[in-house]
Amino acid sequence: MTVSRLRPRLPSPLEAVVDERFERHGVRLLLKRDDLIHPDLPGNKWRKLALNLEAAAGRPVLTFGGAYSNHLRATAAAGRLLGFATTGVVRGDELAERPLNPSLARCAADGMRLVFVARSTYRAKDDPAVLAELLRDAPPGTYVVPEGGSNALAVRGCLELGRELAEAPVDVAAVACGTGGTLAGLAAGLGTEQRALGVPVLRGGFLGAAVEELQEAALGGRRGAWSLDERFHFGGYARTDPALDAFARDFEARHGLVVERLYVAKMLYGLLALAEEGAFPSGTRLAAVITGSGDGSNVRALTGEGDRRGE
Ligand SMILES: Cc1ncc(COP(=O)(O)O)c(C=O)c1O
Repeated sequence: MTVSRLRPRLPSPLEAVVDERFERHGVRLLLKRDDLIHPDLPGNKWRKLALNLEAAAGRPVLTFGGAYSNHLRATAAAGRLLGFATTGVVRGDELAERPLNPSLARCAADGMRLVFVARSTYRAKDDPAVLAELLRDAPPGTYVVPEGGSNALAVRGCLELGRELAEAPVDVAAVACGTGGTLAGLAAGLGTEQRALGVPVLRGGFLGAAVEELQEAALGGRRGAWSLDERFHFGGYARTDPALDAFARDFEARHGLVVERLYVAKMLYGLLALAEEGAFPSGTRLAAVITGSGDGSNVRALTGEGDRRGE
């Protein structure tokens, strides 16, 4: 199977935008529009899934996610478009009793078999016995992609993001982080004079170790210059507050793109706060990676309805 049949828009566009709030502090803002790579596999979904789907070579795919997981949606869409069977293991067996939310309804419409499991089972999904149990009902030869799609192949896929930016007039490349897979690859692909900045959207301070582990598994050790700023999670995954909402709406009005709220909004908010603190030397060319599209479909996760942890 070749996923390039899906005709991704690569390299993704890099757009310079004029934003006087950044310019005032000598910072040139650019948007790396990974959200435009593919309508059904936008942003880091494409980057993380492409090599995994090549490795699956048309076999059925099983993967994991929360009730509003972008990753489940992208995997289901890839299955429909490329013609392979998909199974989505969804956190929360109570969801089986309720009507499907719009995100899971899209997965089902794309042909994904949904398996709802108790949170305790979900937490234990890396245990070989638990995984074997899940695979028993899946089609023979099923290929397993981890939660959020983050494995060594995903990191290598995200390396391309860094390589695209290595060719560009960019000093710092910033990305929102969930599992850290995108940052791990991005940082490794950048040029020696460039650095990557990760903005975690989950609370917990575990991300530095996670990125190191992913780089170790995919690339044999720590790679590239990268750091994290852990101040912009707004209380945790899918948590928000009126200031963040207002910021995202204002950014949309200024720059004419819909800002994905769970990840991208927090990263952009963090970048402006850092610029205002004088964290970037005057003349810095700052590329914000737009890792997802803001079609509004996961905004419901912000209302508190359903499960708060996404993928
Ligand atoms: C839109 C968006 N941005 C950023 C991320 C974070 O990616 P990662 O889990 O590789 O850190 C995700 C999650 O996959 C996402 O959906």
